[in-house]
This record gives sequence, C-alpha cells and structure tokens, in this order.
Amino acid sequence: MCTLVETQLLLLLQLLFRWTTQALAQAPTPFTLPLKISPIKLNGASPRPPPLTASLAAPLGNESRERLRDVAAEGLALALDPTRGLVNFLPMIDNLQGDSGRGYYLEMLIGTPPQKLQILVDTGSSNFAVAGVPHSHTSSYFDTEKSSTYRSKNLNVNVKYTQGSWTGSVGEDVVTIPKGFNSTFLVNIAIIFESEDFFLPETKWNGILGLAYAMLAKPSSSLETFFDSLVKQAKISNIFSIQMCGAGLPTDRTGTNGGSLVMGGVEPSLYEGEIWYTTIKKEWYYQIEILKLEIGGQNLNLDCSEYNIDKAIVDSGTTLLHLPPKVFDAVIEAISHTSLISEFSEGFWTGSQLACWNYETPWSYFPNISIYLRDENSSKSFCITILPQLYILPILGIDSNYECYRFGISSSTDALVIGATVMEGFYVVFDRAQKRIGFALSSCAEVDGVPVSAISGPFSTDDIASSCIPGSPSKEPILWIVSYALMSLCGIVFLILISLMFPFCCVHCSHDPNLVNDESCLVQHHWK
Ligand SMILES: *[C@@H]1O[C@H](CO)[C@@H](O)[C@H](O)[C@H]1NC(C)=O
Ligand SMILES: *[C@@H]1O[C@H](CO)[C@@H](O)[C@H](O)[C@H]1NC(C)=O
Ligand SMILES: *[C@@H]1O[C@H](CO)[C@@H](O)[C@H](O)[C@H]1NC(C)=O
Ligand SMILES: *[C@@H]1O[C@H](CO)[C@@H](O)[C@H](O)[C@H]1NC(C)=O
Repeated sequence: MCTLVETQLLLLLQLLFRWTTQALAQAPTPFTLPLKISPIKLNGASPRPPPLTASLAAPLGNESRERLRDVAAEGLALALDPTRGLVNFLPMIDNLQGDSGRGYYLEMLIGTPPQKLQILVDTGSSNFAVAGVPHSHTSSYFDTEKSSTYRSKNLNVNVKYTQGSWTGSVGEDVVTIPKGFNSTFLVNIAIIFESEDFFLPETKWNGILGLAYAMLAKPSSSLETFFDSLVKQAKISNIFSIQMCGAGLPTDRTGTNGGSLVMGGVEPSLYEGEIWYTTIKKEWYYQIEILKLEIGGQNLNLDCSEYNIDKAIVDSGTTLLHLPPKVFDAVIEAISHTSLISEFSEGFWTGSQLACWNYETPWSYFPNISIYLRDENSSKSFCITILPQLYILPILGIDSNYECYRFGISSSTDALVIGATVMEGFYVVFDRAQKRIGFALSSCAEVDGVPVSAISGPFSTDDIASSCIPGSPSKEPILWIVSYALMSLCGIVFLILISLMFPFCCVHCSHDPNLVNDESCLVQHHWK
C-alpha cells in the first residue's frame, strides 16, 4: 500500500515537475501537491483530534460574548416585532453546540420533572423526536414513565432519513428551552424505541428537532410540528434563524463549537451587512431556486435546471454540500482545473481519501465557489460565495506530521443540498412568515481573522430562464387543464368498463403512510 502510494507520488512529482516547468511562466502562485494522500481509516470511530485550544474551539469566546452584551445594552440586539411586542433574543445567543460533522444541538428540558436532553437542529425534516430507551450511542434518554405530564397518542411512527431511521410512538409533553424562553410549551413528541444508524458514535445529541414544514411530518402532516406549536404558544413571529460557528475549525471530540438558533426573529449581532432573501419555492423542505454556479469566477454553464434536480434545499442536518451528479462532475473538473491540482487522487474527490500537507494550509490552491440564488425580487439575483476554508475541511489526528483535509462536497442523486459546511459561512434566516430564506454574512465565519464567505449582488437575471425548477408549471395552464380533464374522462370510462367486466374485483390499497422518504441526510462523518 505504502509503496504504491510512493510510486504514485513519484510519478505525480515527475508529471508535476514537467508541468510546472511548462506552466511556471503563466502560473503566478507556486503550487504544491498534497504531500500525502491517506486512506481514511474507519475502525468504529473516525479519526479524532486531541482537544483544541480554547481560542480555536470557542469562536464566540468571552470577549465576543461581552461585546455582544455591550451591543445588547444599547438595545441593538433586541429585535423588535411590532405586532407582538419585544422578544428578547439574547438568551438564545450561543445556545447551540456541535460541528458540521455531527450536527449542532440545543439543550431542552422535557417533561415534569424536567429531564435534560440535547436535541439536533435539523431543517431537513419535521418531527420532534427523542430517544425513549437507552442506546449505546446516547448518554441519556427521555423516560416517559418518570414524567407526570406525558400523554401518549397511541400513534406509531417510522421515519427514514437519507441515512438512518427510527421507529417510535407519538405523544405530547411539556418542553422548555432554557436558552430561549422562560415559559413551557406543550408539543408533540415522538419517543424513539428502535433505531438504525440514527444515533451515531460520538454524537452528543439524543433527540432531533425537525424544523421543516408540516408537510414532511410523520405519520401525517396533521401532526403539528414543534415550531408551529412554539409560534402559537410563545406568540413569536413565524421565523427562525441559525448561525453555526464551526468554520475552518477541525471537528472536535468535545463538540464545543458554538452556534445560535434564534426562534422568533433575527438577531442583529449575529450578522454583518445586509440580508439577501430568496423565495421558498415550496413549503415542505426549505426548497429554493439556484440559478448558477461559479468556480473561481468561471460560470459552470450548465442548464440552470440541472442545479435544481430534483430539488435544491437548505438543510442544517446534512453535513456537506451535496450536488446532483452532473453538477458534481462539472465542479470537480473546474476545481481541479482551477486549483492546478489536476493530478489529485480520485479518492479525495469521492471522499474516500484525505489529502495531507505538512505545516501548510492548502486553501490558497483552491478556488472560491459561488452559488447564485434568485432574489425574492425575481428580476435580480444575488450570490453567496464560500472560500476553500469552508469546503476543504481539516481533520485532525491522522498523523502528527501532516495536516489532513477532506473534501466537503459530495454527489447526490436526489437533491442539491446546502448543508452545514455552507451554512457555516452565513447567518441563515428561515422566514416562514414571508416564505423566504435570507442569507447574511455570519459574524463568526472567519478563519484567523479572515472572512471565509461573501455575499454580493444584485445581478441581472436576463440570461437565465424564468424558472430553473424542473417540472414547474407550464405557461399554458389551460392546455394542461384540458388534457387533465380528458385524461380523467378516459380514466372514468376505463374504470366503468373494467368494473363491468370484473364485478367482484377487489381493489387493494397498499399505500403505506409510514414509508417515508425524508431526505434529511442526518449529519454524519461516515466515510464511504
Ligand atoms: C471568561 O471571563 C471570566 C472573567 O473575566 C474568567 O474568569 C474566565 O476564565 C473566562 N473564561 C474563558 C473561557 O476565558
Ligand atoms: C427568565 O427570567 C429571568 C428572571 O425574570 C430572566 O433573568 C431571564 O433572562 C429569563 N430568561 C429568558 C430565557 O428569558
Ligand atoms: C475569494 O473571495 C474572497 C472574498 O470575496 C476574495 O477576497 C478572494 O480574492 C477570492 N479568491 C479568489 C482566488 O478569487
Ligand atoms: C423589488 O425591487 C424594487 C426596487 O428595488 C422595490 O421597490 C420592490 O419593493 C421590490 N419588490 C419586492 C417584492 O421586494
């Protein structure tokens, strides 16, 4: 294995030498291959770092927290909702912990007397569920027997995510969010009694808070979601916003990177500049419309519907940026071209290998990636840019002589997913009230004091189709109505004929409401 790698490296170096001598004249930056490509070991746990230094691990440390308080004292951190009065968002600042690899979670107190649980924040699903029995990968669980306020609804539920699934029963109980509200809320809660690949080793959470729309809720969309209950009972605006603060930081065993889930509005101290909004195209996942991708400033030039196959969503519960296969291939080609690392091992791009450099960060070799979104004002667009610090992810503890990195983008057949690695660059506003998602520069998206994300706009959309969503309604609705009507007529005639021929035919409906295809690809550090 080792010798193979070495020969490959030698070969690469030869190639590289030839190549660099040719290219030196026009290539301004020196270029280094990764010194080492290491296979990813997976003996139960992924390689994990020694504890980080405090300054690395706590981007919102003492100092900035104090700064935030100061801002608050001047009244800037109180967001005003004119219709419902003042909501104090200060307690919610820094109420999350975690990292992009294993998710960001929020502390909740459930039941009477309260039992403390850590709940993963997932905008790609819609059930609130907690471990109801001990599990080897969770430190605690919610014991319904010990809660005097728990009421079962005698409703079984099974939820499948892109990765992992669980089975449980639905009930209701009271919940408090200590870093959020003083009051208690009555919510639906699924008690998980059986699960597969859902709770993972090293995850610190023992429940999940699905923040997407009721349409995705199981067993049916009539089950009121946690956030809908919260909006009603806490009388907050129908809006929440998320800041995740793990940018550029190696994922850490202790999961101490911070973040904030602001329920009921937007907290000014968590972002800089202006918030750019794009429309939510359909209220199930947070589905948005992507118009264009640029790698290192170069347009990929794909048909814009390719970016939205079969949907483009914003999901805090997915670790990486997922791209449809065709887009993924184009991106890899563009990155390897722009990065001058065309000889990169295939395994790095597919996520099966890490690339390691010694005492050097490789970020300067990789291009920026820009994602263009249609502005809510549809004649314009804006663009969110992530720097390599957000998608070339440091992984500690592989080898003390090398700094190793994994690629933060992967291929996905059913969606483009703006996952946690991208979200870490932005303060993301889920404005359900106005059916739009906002992006602003996150105050914590910095590595060594340098911003790792950018937002710019407005841009013209003249060169872009009026809709990039595949299968969106045709422009001739009347023709469609006519054709549907004709089809239904045919169907009815056909059914009548059939029923005349087989008077005792029994129609069996095998629709299983529990079979779900909830695509929230729950947070994992699984190397495949
Ligand atoms: C935060 O500040 C307090 C008081 O200034 C100090 O005692 C504490 O050690 C600080 N904590 C960290 C993590 O720096
Ligand atoms: C809860 O109430 C106490 C006392 O009134 C107050 O100091 C605290 O900030 C409140 N917490 C939240 C989350 O509103
Ligand atoms: C990437 O984007 C940042 C922020 O807009 C910019 O400062 C930087 O020059 C860009 N890098 C490249 C290689 O274009
Ligand atoms: C669109 O932009 C125009 C001009 O900037 C503004 O007046 C208008 O309110 C915007 N419309 C929406 C729906 O935001």
